[in-house]
Amino acid sequence: MRRLTRIAAVAWLSTAGVLSGGVPSAFAEGNAARGRLAYQRTCIACHGDNKTASSAGPSLVGLIGRRAGTVAGTPYGRSLYESGIIWDEAALQRYLASPSDEVHGTIMPIGVRDPVERDDLVAYLKSLK
Ligand code: HEC
Repeated sequence: MRRLTRIAAVAWLSTAGVLSGGVPSAFAEGNAARGRLAYQRTCIACHGDNKTASSAGPSLVGLIGRRAGTVAGTPYGRSLYESGIIWDEAALQRYLASPSDEVHGTIMPIGVRDPVERDDLVAYLKSLK
């Protein structure tokens, strides 16, 4: 019984990322393959993908670490750049949950309410380098 508890505790610590030495994330690790499907369903029309650019929205390749509103040739609204956001996982989560709550006046028209889908999309966007 005692041994089982110990195994359970170790299992919990590993899933929580405590033993792996990583910084535990506030968000669940999303599934990039599912995120790609969600991206193709809801984002690609305006954001294009690796190969095809789109005129409606900025390319999201190389997003992580980039300042918001800075892809050349994109007709951004002003507020996104003025937000000063540097895209990381937390900022993306907040923006995608409700773009206009996070950045007043942004012209990005849709949010992603489902937290699992958001995790998946963030995992996919992180992989777009
Ligand atoms: C109808 C078109 C449209 C759709 C669909 C759309 N977006 Fe956007 N998105 C935009 C526009 C336009 C902007 C620029 C917003 C601004 O300037 O305020 C933008 C901006 C963004 C940015 C900030 C980029 C930067 O360079 O700072 C991210 C991140 C983003 N969108 C993610 C997504 C994701 C993920 C999806 C799918 C769930 C999505 N968008 C769906 C039009 C769209």
